[in-house]
Amino acid sequence: MNIIKLNAIGSTNDYAKSNLKVLLTKIPVVIWTENQTQGKGQRGAKWITEEGKCLTFSLVMRSKNVTSTSQFKLNKIVSLSILEILKKYNVPNLAIKWPNDIMSANRKLGGILIESNYRGNTIESFIIGVGLNINQLNMSYLPKATSVAIETGVINDISHILTEISNAIERSIKDLNTITEQSLNDRYLEHLFKYQKPCTFNTQEIQNIPGIIQGIDATGKLLVQFQADELPQAFDLKEIEMLY
Ligand code: BTN
Repeated sequence: MNIIKLNAIGSTNDYAKSNLKVLLTKIPVVIWTENQTQGKGQRGAKWITEEGKCLTFSLVMRSKNVTSTSQFKLNKIVSLSILEILKKYNVPNLAIKWPNDIMSANRKLGGILIESNYRGNTIESFIIGVGLNINQLNMSYLPKATSVAIETGVINDISHILTEISNAIERSIKDLNTITEQSLNDRYLEHLFKYQKPCTFNTQEIQNIPGIIQGIDATGKLLVQFQADELPQAFDLKEIEMLY
């Protein structure tokens, strides 16, 4: 794995996008910084970090073999690879909040932002951006967030976690086409936050509606059942919010 370390950068995902042509000649390659100043999150949110305390990196990969239907497979394997490594650091109650927030119990430890790059109409490559809270000891400035240090009481070497996670992601990407959808789904659902538990949602039509997550469909939409006698409905990221 080639690791390019930048002293400071707005967003490692944006840097990867601007330098894609060169980076594609160096894959597997990771862009890493300990000082990301304009981090981007899901749904247009900002990703806020404290210098030197978070793991923020972007892994660049070619899209060969990733079809549009297997794109959510990529989300799943990246989330599961991160969980696999964090388990070794004894982070308690690890879970994935759909689609790919990394949780410890009901607090957010990190997130993933996968961006696709097109050549004409086809996806040429992906930028897999990962942000994880590692060594912060006080996160009261971010509601519902936590860090590895808060959860375990241990301060860790961030570069070591970077190597382990990026290698784990690379390994699972290599296996992408041999992993069956079924086994991947089973592993994802096993770790899915609030799976089959009653919780409350906001949809575009209704606020504070009780429902139960019943799974994920083939394209990665969340399946939520609101009434016992009705079939689950499918939602994408912009269409539903879970309150927890
Ligand atoms: C989320 O909203 O949960 C996704 C957060 C993703 C943050 C990472 S940090 C490294 C990479 N660069 C960015 O600007 N964002 C991603």
